[in-house]
Parts: sequence; structure tokens; C-alpha cells
Amino acid sequence: FEKIPLNLTVNNKAYTASVEPRVTLLDLLREELHLTGTKKGCDHGQCGACTVHVDGIRVNSCLSLAVTNEGKKITTIEGLAEGDELHPMQKAFIKHDGFQCGYCTPGQIMSAVACIKEGHANSRAEIREYMSGNICRCGAYPNIVDAIVEVKE
Ligand code: FES
Repeated sequence: FEKIPLNLTVNNKAYTASVEPRVTLLDLLREELHLTGTKKGCDHGQCGACTVHVDGIRVNSCLSLAVTNEGKKITTIEGLAEGDELHPMQKAFIKHDGFQCGYCTPGQIMSAVACIKEGHANSRAEIREYMSGNICRCGAYPNIVDAIVEVKE
């Protein structure tokens, strides 16, 4: 395939890439930009491990073709902390044991931040519904909800 030029901002840094039209945003982030915090679980939109923010909206990056992100602002788990200071949601996940193996955690945290930002954290039931696209094999769900409730307050 012919490569297509692509300009986008990732974690406040401008990138110019040249990508084949079939490449997903997830593969661009992981394999071209070496931002491996974003995880590949199912690679077809069912697990949420690949969740990032695109212009502030949460997106499953495995379902987004990289070339459709021209000019967009992407935030990955690597972009949440402010220098050495973890994002409040990252701190809350640690405090409430919101993970066991940790594989789904970057996606969980990106969804958790979006959950509050988008106004869907008004009850535990609403949080669970919003977070239902992020699968955790270890079953840390109650602790994840605890973390979101704390940050919301
Ligand atoms: Fe994208 Fe599973 S890797 S939803």
C-alpha cells in the first residue's frame, strides 16, 4: 500500500508520520511512536485495553485507522501524569487496588478519566455502565469503581 502522510499531536507533542492506510491508531502508537502503555487485547473493539482520548473523547484505538486522525490531539496513558506527579486517577487506582495483573489498567484509567469528564460518574451503576466496555480478567471491577467514585468527589 502507498503510505499517506499524517500529522497529529500525541501527548502535546507534534508527530509527522507516513503510514499505510490499513494501520490502526493503536499500531501507530505502539509500533511507530513506541508508546507501548496503550495495550492490544482483542484488536477488534471488545476489551477496551487500547482506550485513548482523541480530541478529549475516549476511543478504542484498535478501531480507528491512523490516517483518520489527521490534525487530531491524542492522549495516551503516558500523557496523563504531570512530570513526576501522577494523575489523580492513577493515584486512586493505586490506593484502591484497581488492578491485579495490570494489563487492562491503561485502558481502564483512560476510560475512568473520560467517565468523569463526560459526566457519567453520578452513581456506581452509571459508572459500571460507562466502564462496561473495559474488560478486566482479574475482576477488579469494584475497586475500579471505588477509584472513580473517589476522584469524582
Ligand atoms: Fe481495542 Fe480490545 S484491543 S478493544
